[in-house]
Amino acid sequence: MYIIGISCYYHDASAALLKDGIIVAAAQEERFTRKKHDTGFPINSIRYCLSSQNITIKDIEYIGFYEKPFIKFERVLFQHLEMFPLSLKTFLSSIPSWINEKLRVVRVIRKKLGYRKDILFIEHHMAHAASSFLISPFEKAAILTTDGVGEWTTTTYGIGKKNKIHLMKEIKFPNSLGLLYSTITAYLGFSVNNSEYKVMGLSAHGTMDRKSNPYYEKLKKVIDIKEDGSYRLNMDYFVYHYKDRMPSQKLCELLNGQIRKSESDVEQRHKDIAAALQLILEDVMTKMLNYIYKITKQENIVLSGGVALNSVYNGKILKNTKFKKVWIHPDPGDGGTSIGVASYIYHTILGKKRNFVLSNPYLGPKFSEEEIKKILDKNKIKYSDFKDEKELIKKTAKLIYDNNVIGWFQEGMEWGPRALGARSILSNPCNPKMQEILNLKVKHREKFRPFAPVVCEEDALKYFDCDNPVPEATDFMLMVYPIKKKYHKKIPAVTHVDGSGRLQTIRKFQNQLYYNLIKEFGKLSGIPILINTSFNIRGEPIICSPYDAYKCMMGTGIDYLVMNKFLIKREDNLRDAWDSEKYAHD
Ligand SMILES: [Fe+2]
Repeated sequence: MYIIGISCYYHDASAALLKDGIIVAAAQEERFTRKKHDTGFPINSIRYCLSSQNITIKDIEYIGFYEKPFIKFERVLFQHLEMFPLSLKTFLSSIPSWINEKLRVVRVIRKKLGYRKDILFIEHHMAHAASSFLISPFEKAAILTTDGVGEWTTTTYGIGKKNKIHLMKEIKFPNSLGLLYSTITAYLGFSVNNSEYKVMGLSAHGTMDRKSNPYYEKLKKVIDIKEDGSYRLNMDYFVYHYKDRMPSQKLCELLNGQIRKSESDVEQRHKDIAAALQLILEDVMTKMLNYIYKITKQENIVLSGGVALNSVYNGKILKNTKFKKVWIHPDPGDGGTSIGVASYIYHTILGKKRNFVLSNPYLGPKFSEEEIKKILDKNKIKYSDFKDEKELIKKTAKLIYDNNVIGWFQEGMEWGPRALGARSILSNPCNPKMQEILNLKVKHREKFRPFAPVVCEEDALKYFDCDNPVPEATDFMLMVYPIKKKYHKKIPAVTHVDGSGRLQTIRKFQNQLYYNLIKEFGKLSGIPILINTSFNIRGEPIICSPYDAYKCMMGTGIDYLVMNKFLIKREDNLRDAWDSEKYAHD
């Protein structure tokens, strides 16, 4: 039985295909359209899912949608009516998209896909809960979902047992931990629904101490946190419920200054505000999780919703609470809900036994040796081939050791927002200049942002103060842990200002080539760790196809591209060189 799950029209559109309970394909629409966070109907993702299994839409039994649009529209109407006439402008601008697509999902699906069978809608936070619990390694677990907003709900908790999910309580719009984080993101001059992770990275540069941070007590005025972790926002500090901006003038006054202009300097004040926000998020999460532990009496916790992308906090969950194990979906934001709704239909609505754990994130398009060769030849790209896997590993490890920047294209594209060794840029973490080199050649990112290390799972505890055993969520780069002090100077390029690293762990069964490459680099350098950063041009989504990879290399300073068994050197193909920075936009 095949089921398709769809998420679209709000954040990151995506589609997932489930076959007899197993997720066999999934991808985000942005990777095909090359439009970052594309929210449009995921027609390309659906086509990919179908073609990956050689099936057509006629083979699909159910299609599931990740929210209930009419309930969401009710909330939109209500919030605008309540704030009328201040809300008139945003109301009028939002109406066309509701009328043309958001309220016509059934019609759109039938028309675009020629699909005639059942379409099921489930509540947004249930889709989040299902995306984390039903494909987790746990038979039983407590569940916490925290995002910006679904229909009305912004936070829920509950319990999952076998194939059933029981959500017990919820917090509703406009009270939202996700929207609080986004509001401060906007205040700090970064883009909402995109750059929240930059604020998280910036927080380490601020005063992460509740007593001495000058903004912690001030910012606490905007949120009333109860002992059980439930919270209410003081809406005088926000305008997102009726305007197309987020912070109010009163919030600017509280934080002693106007909204930071995006290209202006990041001052200590901004760093401290980011830290104060992170501290408050951690206060709420810890209180909530401790309460959920008390109520559910479960040893396992699963998380989802955009707030679960806060890897700085995720790495503290097991230390701050009594939970013994934690699991997080590789794409805990809205993108992941397409997997959630498909799994919910199969396991919970149809009552089928759970038979799948999402441990391998390589669910996207894959390209064979022949397909890649064809593309290289057609475009007259100069390349050489490795004679076997052993040579590929040896030569690539040496190129990285010699401080070259490598585009690495292997396996099926990763599911979720992080590059995990299928569409990655790899480089040498031991070189103190590598951060600068990467920024100069490819990334052009803000200086305060760290680069991430990847390490084989069994080596993680040697270099990082991880939870033991290392949670599977670390495989998806969702946990930040301290790097052991004696290695700070040995891997300076991935050691953040506070001594932490947002590591990825890799297990051999997930991606053997990647795993072997890291080990081989370890033989040369004495440290089996690489820098793993996403393979993309600034402001664009992660690459998807072989030609995207080549184009990205030729538009940046990536030195070599290792794609399947082919080695492509930038210098040999300079006639295709271009300057991606001329077109970059964050
Ligand atoms: Fe969500």
